[in-house]
Amino acid sequence: MNALHSSLKRAQSDGLARIRDDFPILKLRVNGRPLVFLDNAASSQMPQPVIDRWVRYQTSQHANIHRAVHHLSEVATAEYEGARKKLAAFINAREEREVIFTSGTTDAINLVAHGYGRRFIGAGDEIVLTTLEHHSNIVPWQMVAEEKGATIRVVPVNDRGELIFEEYLRLLGPRTKLVGVGHVSNALGTVNPVREMIQAAHEKGVPVLVDGAQAVPHMKLDVQALDCDFYAFSGHKMFGPTGIGVLYGKAEWLEKMQPYKGGGDMILSVTFEKTTYNVPPHKFEAGTPPIAAAITLGAAADYLAGVGFDLIHAHETDLLDYATDQVNRLPDVRIIGTAEKKAAVLSFVVDGVHPHDVGTLLNEEGVAIRTGHHCAQPVMQRFGIPATSRASFAFYNTHAEVDALVAGIKRVQKVFR
Ligand code: ALA
Repeated sequence: MNALHSSLKRAQSDGLARIRDDFPILKLRVNGRPLVFLDNAASSQMPQPVIDRWVRYQTSQHANIHRAVHHLSEVATAEYEGARKKLAAFINAREEREVIFTSGTTDAINLVAHGYGRRFIGAGDEIVLTTLEHHSNIVPWQMVAEEKGATIRVVPVNDRGELIFEEYLRLLGPRTKLVGVGHVSNALGTVNPVREMIQAAHEKGVPVLVDGAQAVPHMKLDVQALDCDFYAFSGHKMFGPTGIGVLYGKAEWLEKMQPYKGGGDMILSVTFEKTTYNVPPHKFEAGTPPIAAAITLGAAADYLAGVGFDLIHAHETDLLDYATDQVNRLPDVRIIGTAEKKAAVLSFVVDGVHPHDVGTLLNEEGVAIRTGHHCAQPVMQRFGIPATSRASFAFYNTHAEVDALVAGIKRVQKVFR
């Protein structure tokens, strides 16, 4: 009965994964085997409707925006601003001007570090980050802290890779000027209690930036419900193109922040004596923006909404549970990151085998994973390891692909025995 139940559940779950037919790249063969793409946390693949949107823009709508009165410029401007509107609806922003197009999460965080940090953080102030942060939510803050004489305080994690909430509360003090936290850890998959963290920070008047790069492809985002002050994410991890991302910022902050980059389109007037800046979001979008990528990102948001986050969540949870169970059955393999709340990431170490060798041998089987420190060296240091092997899932992955991963790990162990 249980076996029947689990095979029915599996069939149901993989029903969603049939959507993989939308993804031409998933039909590739690598090293003579069907591609098993389990490196989605680094970059996910684009479905045909999103690719088509890019092609349509390039073949019939391209011109520079906000600058001319000719037909194509008006079309491109309307499509670009239309994409902003779609993204605002996708994350439930109160106003479209709260959506700033950036080149990605890293660019978005740098924008806040410079635009907010340089203006509101001073000597002796504190920035609270967490052990789980990706380098892009550490290094920009270190640069600001060094320039301003501020200090970075770090929320520790327990052995499962969960933030220790009491320690977080203890770190929030009168000098705290910003909290920066990843919604989902890229290295371990931990889903952090960002809503509760934001509430606690706001009780002390401290704004919070959430790095949502690893969350947005997996869960419905509602920035008003979260009440975050800033939320950053990337297009290429949510089935869109590279070179585009979003910074959501509350209008009240964006109005007060200084621009990060200077140039065309971010100004109202320029003389050699004085320049006045444009209003948000344009104040933060200097120069010709990635127009094609922004419009294509709008299509990616439509595509994700069309698949539906309830289905995505159910399938990915099922897949992660299955993968966790299968990998746990392997001798001499240890999962790093066993938080109660996890999303789409399975990091592991195989005793006696360097993760790069695991990755290389899996690649011979057509299985793509990421190996290394995942640009999250403090996480590796916390767990006393230099690197892990990381399988990361998207809704188009299947149980059969998890089986291919597990078979690949068994082969690695045989080769290194
Ligand atoms: N941030 C990306 C990852 O986790 C590159 O792999």
